Amino acid sequence: MRKTIYILNGPNLNLLGKREPEIYGHETLDDVRAACVKVGAASGLQVELMQSNWEGQIVDWIHDARDQAAGIIINPAALTHTSVAVLDALNSFSGPVIEVHISQVHKREAFRHHSYVSQRADAVMAGFGVHGYALAMQHMVKLLA
Ligand code: DQA
Repeated sequence: MRKTIYILNGPNLNLLGKREPEIYGHETLDDVRAACVKVGAASGLQVELMQSNWEGQIVDWIHDARDQAAGIIINPAALTHTSVAVLDALNSFSGPVIEVHISQVHKREAFRHHSYVSQRADAVMAGFGVHGYALAMQHMVKLLA
């Protein structure tokens, strides 16, 4: 059976491509999914990309990943900076976790400089635009090899 990677996206990322394009670009989550499926297909990894505006839904998907996924790529969006619940859920997952931010959060407002999720993440990407997801997939392939 092919290994599955969960790619989880937090609040407002459903508006990717429409929301603040000067920061997040014009590509959509469907474009992100297509790019990640392509990387996965070349390496025998299946991709499931999900997005929710609800913290509890993200926590539930991380719990599902315990049985269903070999690794998690997560852009927690604003929950990055606020959510102990997402961190605790990720701590219950034993596979590799890669945190992705489309923008270079450290160049932005001070409140975006702290990430709860980074305490668990095995790697962190920031400022690569949406290409960061495909790069994270490439690294996931290495981590799972
Ligand atoms: C983000 C950065 C966060 O600070 C912000 O709240 C987001 C998106 C990014 O991908 O750059 O919604 O995670």
